[in-house]
Amino acid sequence: MSDTIHPISAEFLRQTHLTEPQYRQLYERSIKDPQNFWSEQAQKFVTWFKPWDEVCSGDLEKLNTGWFKNAKLNAAYNCLDRHLEKRAKQTAIIWEGDDPKETRHITYAELHSEVSRFANVLKKQHIKKGDRVCIYLPMIPEAVVAMLACARIGAIHSVVFGGFSADSLKARINDADCQLVITANEGLRGGKTIPLKQNVDEALMDCRQVRSVIVVKRTANEVSWTEGRDAWYQDLMAQAESQCPPEMIDAEDPLFVLYTSGSTGQPKGILHSTGGYLVYAAITHHYIFDYHDGEIFWCTADVGWITGHTYAVYGPLLNGATTLIFEGVPHYPDFSRYWNVIDKYKVNIFYTAPTAIRALRREGNDWVTRTQRESLKLLGTVGEPISADVWEWYYTVVGNSRCPIVDTWWQTETGGILLSPLPGATPLKPGSAAWPFFGVVAAIVDDKGNEVADNQMGKLIIRQPWPGMLQTVYKNRERFVAAYFAEFPGKYLTGDDARRDNEGYFWITGRNDDVIKIAGHRIGTGEVESAILQHPSVSEAAVVEVPDAIKGHSIYAFVTPKSGIKPTDALKNELIKKVRTHIGAVATIGYVQWADALPKTRSGKIMRRLLRKIANNDLNELGDVSTLADPDVVDNLINNRLPIEE
Ligand code: WT7
Repeated sequence: MSDTIHPISAEFLRQTHLTEPQYRQLYERSIKDPQNFWSEQAQKFVTWFKPWDEVCSGDLEKLNTGWFKNAKLNAAYNCLDRHLEKRAKQTAIIWEGDDPKETRHITYAELHSEVSRFANVLKKQHIKKGDRVCIYLPMIPEAVVAMLACARIGAIHSVVFGGFSADSLKARINDADCQLVITANEGLRGGKTIPLKQNVDEALMDCRQVRSVIVVKRTANEVSWTEGRDAWYQDLMAQAESQCPPEMIDAEDPLFVLYTSGSTGQPKGILHSTGGYLVYAAITHHYIFDYHDGEIFWCTADVGWITGHTYAVYGPLLNGATTLIFEGVPHYPDFSRYWNVIDKYKVNIFYTAPTAIRALRREGNDWVTRTQRESLKLLGTVGEPISADVWEWYYTVVGNSRCPIVDTWWQTETGGILLSPLPGATPLKPGSAAWPFFGVVAAIVDDKGNEVADNQMGKLIIRQPWPGMLQTVYKNRERFVAAYFAEFPGKYLTGDDARRDNEGYFWITGRNDDVIKIAGHRIGTGEVESAILQHPSVSEAAVVEVPDAIKGHSIYAFVTPKSGIKPTDALKNELIKKVRTHIGAVATIGYVQWADALPKTRSGKIMRRLLRKIANNDLNELGDVSTLADPDVVDNLINNRLPIEE
């Protein structure tokens, strides 16, 4: 197989942290001698109040892994206090509002005092170490303040993306048993308001344990108010002290829980530790983005996702960087927005998702080329595979063929990037997430767990623990074991299919479970199906993914109405709405095909494999249909297939 290779530019070689031989040497060491390797890195990237007894303990067979046993540290101290001596006046956060006229610069000293103040507010609300706090905010600096204030007192934050519905919010608040919710009266995106407080009010009708709601006043609009429960952020902050000593936190105490979709059931609360996670966030941010002091770093991900946690907040702040927090969307006020923001603040490192790149590419090059982008030195992508042609467009048009691209593969569960080129060390192959990061032992296996040959497709697994690895699924150890370690005991199952070429480059093709990636967001088919089934007119439903030119994938639903119910467009629209209110706008169904019946095995299991092929018009090899209870069902579905707009 021949791939285009972009060699490392001379300009980049001059400034990079690592060359290829250095990467190889360090990688070898990280695998052969993880104790010493991680001990050195942990001292280089993080400040500890008390050292560890053991760097990494346990193994994946027994699932008793731990990092930095008995060490003490504080995440907020590491992101703020320790930088004050050198960086008090340096900008920590550049905030660009939805409206380009609204911007803020917050220095490290200011962020430190805001966080301390808000930590005192939380204490006054009786939040203490180990308590869970839900953060449901737009992309405003207060989101970062809230996260770090939790970290300062050892409370576990659970950030819920502002695009999730009241129902989704409720489920997450209840699962983590949060006692306090931080929100805004409204969000603002692309010139439209988002009713965040209203969603919280609705969610809290079924969350009795929540005692208080802190509301940031983001817009001038009025919202309904529950006396005794609700309080304005701005009022509480005005009364709070700006001194709050950081709590001593054990390395193995959780820093946060973040919900993500799996193949079965409701979203899982992915729990991350403090010590291992912070070391991994800092080291990956430093090497993979080739971060140097003074650079402006912009990760476009919302803090509601893991990318926002690790690379908009923790990674850059741990390294004393200036992180750009953007409230808006790439197409507002026009399609030049990202590039204008890059010029406005002289952004050096830009990290976004393939879905945004595809959407902007579709609008034509003019929107890009009328801007300068001279400050850029590095581009990054994450969330789903990027095709070679989209990669080339990003490289030549956005980066002026000057900036390496890091295609970073990772997951909510991995805490930080596991596979990526290292700029300056890795010749780039468009579309490949390249090589494993330090300490990461990745492999491709067949269904039995045996490693496959070079270039053979298989399942991507990770053989050794790494510091950013999830600790567990919140309050659900069984699910943790079942989802990641049951199929191949002793190995972490990623849920992705991939191949590795003969130069060690990984090529990820996508999920091999019932998770769909839509515009980079993770949606479980089971969640969508259960939302559809809540409609009183529906008897059965099954959803699969089909390709979409911009979003990567779209949802295709097969629905059987109850007997006597007419399948109308009105009903179809109700189902689409049902899913949006149950999950959120990220889960908008693209296609609804009415089905008299769904194909089932004799034991009554819906054959999703077959439905996937029908929806994708992949009819040549339907595989073994002999187990079908009623083979006629398939012909019927094929005849009524909906055309996919690619
Ligand atoms: C899934 C994890 C953690 C980043 C944001 C997504 C897909 C992620 C890539 C990439 C191909 C990718 C995988 C993975 N994915 N990055 N560079 N190339 N696929 O986190 O929501 O937990 O989703 O995103 O399918 O399993 P997430």
